[in-house]
Amino acid sequence: MTEPRETTEMTVLDIRRLYAGVEGKTILRGLSLTVKSGEIHAIMGPNGSGKSTLSHVLMGHPKYEVFKGDVLLDGESILELAPNERAQRGLFLGFQYPMEVPGVKLGSFLNIAYKRMHPEEELEVAEFFGYVDERMDTLNMDASFGARYLNDGFSGGEKKRAEVLQMLVLRPSIAILDESDSGLDIDALKTVARAIDKFASPENGILLITHYQRLLDFVTPDYVHVMIGGKIVKSGGSDLAAKLEELGYKWIKDESTIEVI
Ligand SMILES: Nc1ncnc2c1ncn2[C@@H]1O[C@H](COP(=O)(O)OP(=O)(O)OP(=O)(O)O)[C@@H](O)[C@H]1O
Ligand SMILES: [Mg+2]
Repeated sequence: MTEPRETTEMTVLDIRRLYAGVEGKTILRGLSLTVKSGEIHAIMGPNGSGKSTLSHVLMGHPKYEVFKGDVLLDGESILELAPNERAQRGLFLGFQYPMEVPGVKLGSFLNIAYKRMHPEEELEVAEFFGYVDERMDTLNMDASFGARYLNDGFSGGEKKRAEVLQMLVLRPSIAILDESDSGLDIDALKTVARAIDKFASPENGILLITHYQRLLDFVTPDYVHVMIGGKIVKSGGSDLAAKLEELGYKWIKDESTIEVI
């Protein structure tokens, strides 16, 4: 396992024995995980194991309910906070299925969100859009996307790029990316993966939810976790992802001493 990079301003997301679900159904079953700035964690796991549920619960999606356990950001529970308050504290989620928001332009959305997250910075509008354009360039996105309604009519891959753009612009301290690599064409995958890798710094922690090693070829995680049945059943270094790619999940289910539901 690689050493965590040297950190400056430290943020810690601490998920403690979390039980949560939706519509009365328990999906997360005692999940614990700590993500610190300077670390890249990958979560892998079969379809339906609860990865997106975890991301929604962390962000405070109102449909999801926490039954037991806690989520602390820098030592303080965030479970009572609204999603926008969590975002202001530096938490970010790039959705697996980004929502279309007709009526809100991507550029204005970024501008409003940026001001809320970085109220101390007084950027001129032109300066801000220059800053956004640079990041669009990094992602090979045409600047015209800024004037389009958020995700409205975007292709699958364009939506994923727009999610990563939000991360690059808003500079969260803990970023959760839920399958940001899915739906991207071969070239876009490399572009987006390199952008994520460049964004990773001692000042942020990144939680990558992914099914494939190919993203991790560009963004090397410090830790890889396997989630099955709503909890983490195995953790390791980046070599674990390569092993999963080769062998799938059956060997973990077989060797796991934790009851897998
Ligand atoms: N509203 C709901 N009602 C009932 N079950 C739900 C609801 N939302 C999610 N689930 C179930 O919770 C389980 C976990 O779903 P989740 O989306 O978290 O899985 P995932 O690990 O992200 O899967 P994938 O790899 O396919 O994205 C699934 O079995 C899903 O059907
Ligand atoms: Mg999912």
